[in-house]
Amino acid sequence: MKQLNDLDLNNKRVLIRADFNVPIDEQGAITDDNRITQSIPTIKTVLEKGGKAVLMSHLGDPSGKPSSTDSLAPVAKKLSELLGQDVALAPSCIGAEVESMVKKLERGSAVLLENLRFHPGEKANDATFGSQIASLGEAYVNDAFATAHRAHASVVAVPKHFTQKAPGLLMQRELDYYEKALLHPKRPLCVVLGGSKVSTKLNALINIANKTDKLIIGGAMANTFLAAQGIQMGRSLYETELFPKVLELLVTLARKECKVYLPVDFMVGPSPSAKGLARAVPALEVPPDTMALDIGPATSLLFREAIHSAETIVWNGPMGAFENEEYSKGTTDMIESIAGSHALTVVGGGDTDAAIHHMQLGHKFSYISTGGGAFLALLEGKSLPAIDALK
Ligand code: 3PG
Repeated sequence: MKQLNDLDLNNKRVLIRADFNVPIDEQGAITDDNRITQSIPTIKTVLEKGGKAVLMSHLGDPSGKPSSTDSLAPVAKKLSELLGQDVALAPSCIGAEVESMVKKLERGSAVLLENLRFHPGEKANDATFGSQIASLGEAYVNDAFATAHRAHASVVAVPKHFTQKAPGLLMQRELDYYEKALLHPKRPLCVVLGGSKVSTKLNALINIANKTDKLIIGGAMANTFLAAQGIQMGRSLYETELFPKVLELLVTLARKECKVYLPVDFMVGPSPSAKGLARAVPALEVPPDTMALDIGPATSLLFREAIHSAETIVWNGPMGAFENEEYSKGTTDMIESIAGSHALTVVGGGDTDAAIHHMQLGHKFSYISTGGGAFLALLEGKSLPAIDALK
């Protein structure tokens, strides 16, 4: 795979696929611009090398039709601010008007194509749509790590048309940290998994079982692990149909001498949104009329001790129903524990990133991934279609 620096971009139209799929509120304001700011170094590098940047992204999921709420207009404005130069928004991502806008670009200038998902060809990975987009550029750079697990036209069909193609700096950094943390980790490696469902992380668990020295399980996922072993979990969320898989996994982990840490206490309550009723109970004493909604204080200490000796920590998924402040302490304790560790620390998945940024502890982590589904795909050991297309 070529690197960005290997490409001759001088005076060339460079298609840059970024992931500008950012949250936008009803007033049209971007509420978290992290993905945009993270893509700026790649865009600047292309412009400094004399390239003409043709930026493209999806936003939301407008089902193949234009929709004003999913327009990239707020992103064009934000990009103009961050780059300190005008970034015009093209009316579409294909067609005569777009072609003429792109042809008029000067060295060092940039244009943003309108939402790729306004066309059904994007998600269908349609070859004709892909070649229409490809005709706009003379080189191709993919910096959209968060979309790298999707086999969509802008990341698969389009790069097929180029020999001058490479990952952007953000994409490269994501892959480098994945390699350092999961392919060649300094040991002991400790993987922390949370979130609500084992079913969405089963493949990740199976893959990780072969790699990690320690596995910490929190969130409602832990309920399934405990309930499968016969522990009464009251009205807690758990997945009965996964009991056999979970028991099999525990046997595999034991055989591989991987240490598994499960909660020893919980914060329980009547529902994730209830206020004023949270209380700590031992994991073996979850009352029948309550739900386990966060790990308890003893578990936070246990997990902190387990993390302490790790040289590499990979974390995905919250420890509880952290949107409700009463059930957020397990997640904030985990953030503090990992932030205080000397290990290489890599975090992925949108929910936890937001909590880390809220606590202003982002600088204490070695790397916070911009990918949710793409990060999970790497944890599952899958190859990413967008990366394969760059090779
Ligand atoms: C994301 O936000 O995870 C990426 O932008 C991919 O979006 P998608 O899940 O709508 O494909």
